[in-house]
Amino acid sequence: MKLEDFSAQDQSDLLPEPQKGLVYRCLGCQKEHPIDQLLYTCPECGQVLLIENNEFSELKKKSGKRWQRIFDLRKTLNIPALKGIFRFHELVAPVIPADCVIYLGEGSTPMVEASGLLQSQVGARFYYKNDGQNPSASFKDRGMAAAMAYINYLIKYKGAGKILSVCASTGDTSAAAALYASYLSPNVASSVLLPKGKVTPQQLAQPLGSGAQVFEVPGVFDDCMKVVEHLAENFQVALLNSKNPWRILGQESYAFEVAQELDYDLKGTVIVVPIGNAGNISAIMRGFMKMYELEIIDSLPMILGVQSHHADPVFQYYSEPDPEKREWQPMTVKPSVAQAAMIGNPVSMPRVVELARRYEKTAGAGNFHVVQVNEQAIMDSMIQANRHGHIACTQGGESLAGLKAAMAKGIVGKEHTAVLDATAHHLKFIGFQQMYFEDNFPAEMGVTPEKELQNYPREAVPSGLVRLPAPGNPLEGEEFKAFVSKTAELIAKELGLKVR
Ligand SMILES: Cc1ncc(COP(=O)(O)O)c(C=O)c1O
Ligand SMILES: [Zn+2]
Repeated sequence: MKLEDFSAQDQSDLLPEPQKGLVYRCLGCQKEHPIDQLLYTCPECGQVLLIENNEFSELKKKSGKRWQRIFDLRKTLNIPALKGIFRFHELVAPVIPADCVIYLGEGSTPMVEASGLLQSQVGARFYYKNDGQNPSASFKDRGMAAAMAYINYLIKYKGAGKILSVCASTGDTSAAAALYASYLSPNVASSVLLPKGKVTPQQLAQPLGSGAQVFEVPGVFDDCMKVVEHLAENFQVALLNSKNPWRILGQESYAFEVAQELDYDLKGTVIVVPIGNAGNISAIMRGFMKMYELEIIDSLPMILGVQSHHADPVFQYYSEPDPEKREWQPMTVKPSVAQAAMIGNPVSMPRVVELARRYEKTAGAGNFHVVQVNEQAIMDSMIQANRHGHIACTQGGESLAGLKAAMAKGIVGKEHTAVLDATAHHLKFIGFQQMYFEDNFPAEMGVTPEKELQNYPREAVPSGLVRLPAPGNPLEGEEFKAFVSKTAELIAKELGLKVR
């Protein structure tokens, strides 16, 4: 619809006005820092930051119902700056003027209810939200759209000059960073650091295709992250990992969309999220809390984080029930099929600790959990989901495995409806499916395929023919007819088809 098709009142609310009020807030010393420059950590104490809106209470001048209407009406507009994560402009980054927003098709990813058969197999009502249907095929585009809009704002309005962005990645952050940076070329260039051999070929191809400078570094993600932090501390680069608090703002849009998709009624909802660097789960909790504070939603969903037993520092931390006795311990990770979440020292751990505390304070104890799953369960669940119409990656499989684990523990029951984050598109991680089908996982992953979940192509080559068609050498006449009928008969026999 066109803006002029709406009432004067609606029109005035639909186009957001840039607002002041955003500040960096340190999670350590609580100090506030102005947002006129890009900060990743507190200049005073070095702790990570969140971006807060000191004028958030202004938003309460509109009722929750009014905000619902604004966000719903914006869905009908053909204005690029309001199509993606900035549909929720006032909740995401209200300082950003519309002309700085970069819309590459991110957000509004489909929430697909699992088929009746799959729900009965799992024993729960659930949806997958397909964040793999973002432009670089993972949820990271949400945060990247916010971080790049801010960088664009610094360039356009704050005289920032040309910017070189840098990030460490388990594959998906780099794909998103390179994609968004390439759109802002030549003002923004991108360089990415990847742990050599620890991202999939598809993920390596993505930043190369976007023209980024790609560095393969020995070790695992945690090693790359340290190098990137050193670069950001000592050189003129813009760090695009989720240490960058603008990324968190963008990722909050996942929560806003889930709420909108469920008509803002989240009673009995459980949000299931794989945890790697812990940025996404932090952002999702924060997003729901913002909506709750503005009375856009009247209940907070349960949050369920999931980690593989090969990379589970957050699970280990929360396995101590007494908050006073919990001790943070980074770990050395082992190879995991949930490779994108194979992180032993998550940068956003302080955010999780603080936000989970605030979340449970508002939602009530027992509304934040972290469960652990094994590699076998991740793979079986991914294959199971995808055989019923989903497009889950290994991390998406981890979400389903996590839901099952939470049900087994009695955390989630029949009264719940779960929304599972399929954080990336399964094609990015297709090599793991291949390993499952060919039964050749590295021993340390400890995955044995279930026979009935394996699949493989069969050759359909009829016997008794003198020639077969080949590229550039087609068959003709009787020879071709014989080839067609013999091949069809062979396939019909394999399929057990009845003759008409
Ligand atoms: C596909 C995918 N799923 C899950 C994660 C974990 O998300 P986070 O690092 O925000 O916890 C990542 C990245 O680390 C990822 O790329
Ligand atoms: Zn501080």
